[in-house]
Amino acid sequence: MPRAHIELDKQAVVAPVRRRTFGAFVEHLGRGVYTGLYEPEHPSANDEGFRMDVVELVRELGSTTVRYPGGNFVSGFRWEDSIGPRDKRPVRRDLSWHSLESNQVGLDEFARWLKLTDSELMLSVNVATRGILPALDLLEYANHPSGTALSDLRIANGTREPHNVRMWCLGNEMDGPWQTGFMTADGYGKIAARTAAAMKMADKDLELVVCGSSGSGMPTFGDWERTVLEHAYDHVDYVSCHAYYQEHDGDLGSFLASAIDMDYFIDTVVATADHVGYKKRSNKKINISFDEWNVWYLKEHQESGDVNDVWRHAPRQLEDKYTVADAVVVGNLLMTLLRRSDRVTSASLAQLVNVIAPIMTEPGGPAWRQTTFHPFSITSRLASGEVIRPVIETPTYETARHGEASVIDAVATADEDRAAVFLVNRDLREAAQVTIDVRGLGSSRIAEAVTLADSDVYAKNTLADQNRVTPSANPSATLADGVLTIELPPVSWTAIALR
Ligand code: AHR
Repeated sequence: MPRAHIELDKQAVVAPVRRRTFGAFVEHLGRGVYTGLYEPEHPSANDEGFRMDVVELVRELGSTTVRYPGGNFVSGFRWEDSIGPRDKRPVRRDLSWHSLESNQVGLDEFARWLKLTDSELMLSVNVATRGILPALDLLEYANHPSGTALSDLRIANGTREPHNVRMWCLGNEMDGPWQTGFMTADGYGKIAARTAAAMKMADKDLELVVCGSSGSGMPTFGDWERTVLEHAYDHVDYVSCHAYYQEHDGDLGSFLASAIDMDYFIDTVVATADHVGYKKRSNKKINISFDEWNVWYLKEHQESGDVNDVWRHAPRQLEDKYTVADAVVVGNLLMTLLRRSDRVTSASLAQLVNVIAPIMTEPGGPAWRQTTFHPFSITSRLASGEVIRPVIETPTYETARHGEASVIDAVATADEDRAAVFLVNRDLREAAQVTIDVRGLGSSRIAEAVTLADSDVYAKNTLADQNRVTPSANPSATLADGVLTIELPPVSWTAIALR
């Protein structure tokens, strides 16, 4: 049996646990909005047409900030289409996902939905195919209290109080040739800087996110961030990172170690941003908004040509069904984001409902939790106070994609009177015994120990079997003389709450 030992010391603080680490993403894509959040005919729908069964699950998920309305969608979006009387809103073609957008849900409705879920709105503006003025108009409509044309229009449309959106994304994945209106780093950097500067003339306290690379595999990765930040450094607050992982060619060992790539990605972007900052003799630090991350079976979607030939409204797109192994990876990626909370100060699981999502729905039918729902929800519930950097002694294994990987990975959080430890065992066959010295946390009691694992690592939750995979109490956890001992099944994710 592989054995690992972890030392935790409350003094080894990385940064505060940031609630925005538990952000999510809702794009007008497939059934993310229509028949996902919004389905007026559904038995659980409220007066506004929002599915309350989904609202309940979102609250249980514990997501915080929600990025909206895209994604690739935003690069063809005219925000003005989605406000005002619903019967006057135009139907448009969305070129990025090759579908029809009815605009029946727009900014005002979505903001009201967010209130039901106690979440914060993070808005993307279309810098790809529009300009500075439409971005300023949206800002005025969303945030100005009253007494101007667009703030009064918002009030006339039924929203008296401003939405007061703090975080704004300056476009989406502008380096990707799939993006409507994609740009070079130099072209985008200049536009982003000018748009950001103008938005800050309206409100200097906005938090603005400039697009980084759409993945660390992009040929321009690194150079893109450097060039864009050379233009926009003084005007923005965050640079974005996007990363999706999947199992390739049956190589589960590499897939389980995906968090190594995320770490490398963060290191590189932080180094690049700091390089630009030092060159500019700036005291300011640019942090990371990891505003798209998840497991996504992208290769399969691309190969199956999962794009509509016919223009349909809310087609089934990107409805990945997640396995136990996927949930272990998602749990591990979230652990990595927490461990990097010194510089990753906002993140968004992509996405929230139906589209590569932790929550699935059936039109007219139930809503249920995917496997990946569980590590996210439990981590959001248990992580509090400060992130603690663990010292981990663990066996390692070789992976084809990421080199040497730890069998056991961990992160901890600690508050005044409670602490939590999150763990994965990446071993494909064997359970691991882990001892954790928790004396440095001042913890003396296990309040909860839950593990997500299954004898079939490819087991999924489906419409027919919605609770096939759920976390269960781990009875092996004991705590004596300040040392916690626990057995972790192969390919598993675990959370331990301590008092
Ligand atoms: O999340 C799905 C898509 O992935 C987003 O629209 C885009 O930004 C990314 O490529």
